[in-house]
Amino acid sequence: MSAVASDGAVPAPADRTDPTMQEPILEVLHGVDLQVPPGAVVALLGPNGGGKTTTLGVCSGLHPVTSGELRIAGRQVNGVSAAQLARVGVCCIPEGRSIFANLTVRENLWLATGTGTPLGAIEEAAYARFPILGHRRQQLAGTLSGGEQQMLALARALGTEPVLLLLDELSLGLAPLLVSQVYDTVSELAAGGISILVAEQFARTVLPIAHSAGIMLHGRIVQMGSPDEIEAKLSTTYLGG
Ligand SMILES: Nc1ncnc2c1ncn2[C@@H]1O[C@H](COP(=O)(O)OP(=O)(O)O)[C@@H](O)[C@H]1O
Ligand SMILES: [Mg+2]
Repeated sequence: MSAVASDGAVPAPADRTDPTMQEPILEVLHGVDLQVPPGAVVALLGPNGGGKTTTLGVCSGLHPVTSGELRIAGRQVNGVSAAQLARVGVCCIPEGRSIFANLTVRENLWLATGTGTPLGAIEEAAYARFPILGHRRQQLAGTLSGGEQQMLALARALGTEPVLLLLDELSLGLAPLLVSQVYDTVSELAAGGISILVAEQFARTVLPIAHSAGIMLHGRIVQMGSPDEIEAKLSTTYLGG
């Protein structure tokens, strides 16, 4: 499967109108051309406000594509709703650990059953991958450590059997050791055939496991290349982490 978002999204000068929303929309991305092949981790880097989260939102169906194409598994999906994209395997973990703090670990995993996989199977896979979650299955998710919460967010995402996983600032607020553990898991998931698009302001956390990377500035991908090329570029610019 491949996911392609090409030629930008959310364009529109101020006087254009999103036909579904009937309200003016703002141009945020310009000429964004990205491919996330199956089994690959593509890193989207760049400073705050560059357009990384918006790009993930377009791929999730949360923002409209008003020029160019969004393709998932070879099919054009412009205008398809976020709910429908979720059903075909697009799964996003938004910035800030999308777990429900007042639900237990198990109840959080139950939320992934909406796409049809039984809770037992989701739990089995989650606890095999993250044994600590198994020990804490009855614990309120809000009482987990930051790293454990991120594992839970990943485990729940995996429960939906995604074909395209969109990860936003996964490393935010995590200790360096946990960051590398979480990204090791991401790398394993890609090796299993999932397409993974990762947005990260702190570039060096994700580059070691990325297959390719792009730098986003002002809604454009200003450079795309191998992790080494992008790393070299970062060293000479203001980015990093
Ligand atoms: N809800 C919104 N309303 C208006 N502008 C927004 C909104 N969300 C994001 N933006 C603008 O879109 C641009 C890209 O933001 P974003 O995609 O969040 O960047 P990043 O994730 O790289 O920090 C920024 O200029 C930001 O100010
Ligand atoms: Mg962001």
